[in-house]
Amino acid sequence: MELTPAEALKRQAAERALEYVESGMVLGLGTGSTVAHFLDLLATKLSQGALSDIVGVPTSIWTGREARKAGIELIGLADRAKVDLTVDGADEVSPDLDLIKGMGGALLREKMVAQASHHVVIIADGSKAVERLGTLSPLPVEVVEWASGTHARFLEGLGAEVKTRWSDDVLPLRSDNGNLLLDCRFPEGIDDPAGLDAALQGRAGVVETGFFLGIADVAILASEDGIEVRERHA
Ligand code: 5RP
Repeated sequence: MELTPAEALKRQAAERALEYVESGMVLGLGTGSTVAHFLDLLATKLSQGALSDIVGVPTSIWTGREARKAGIELIGLADRAKVDLTVDGADEVSPDLDLIKGMGGALLREKMVAQASHHVVIIADGSKAVERLGTLSPLPVEVVEWASGTHARFLEGLGAEVKTRWSDDVLPLRSDNGNLLLDCRFPEGIDDPAGLDAALQGRAGVVETGFFLGIADVAILASEDGIEVRERHA
């Protein structure tokens, strides 16, 4: 099947991430269209016998379904103390490898799996690279439904335009955990991601934010000019 140029770039990033995968690994499997390429390429390697004895930890119901269809063996996060490597996508990647994630709605489980991982590799097309977080993507924030408007007002007070994510014209979208998602757009980008994250995490009713700060070890960014591999330096 002929890929669009954008899909071809996602696939290139996914292909490069396979270089980090070794037989016998417990592998965190992210969520999204870039990860879909990774699952497909991983399944091919497994069926060819080039990789073996791999078990995946899915970060969403969608990922679990897709991985199962591709014949990848799965376990739950609670079944193993540690995940060797997680491969996931992102909505924004900063020069310091800080991320915004969650436009696919899976931020909570993605962060739980990433935090349990020895190594986190992010795959994306180069359009996700930003100088300042918040300039391209809204910040998704997962909140319990009850009185979720209080968080929206708090965020609006900080200058954000806040929209509850809808699944269709009638119903708000629910995450795999049954919560709502607030998409928070900051017109000038986000000045202090760590400060905003701390302020949000301190609010009862906020379940998780789409900030992934200090979590990614490597970002593989594929663009027309080639593949850029960014690594976190300790
Ligand atoms: C899902 C995510 C995704 O990784 C992110 O939205 C990128 O998705 P895609 O690869 O489809 O652009 O964080 O919650």
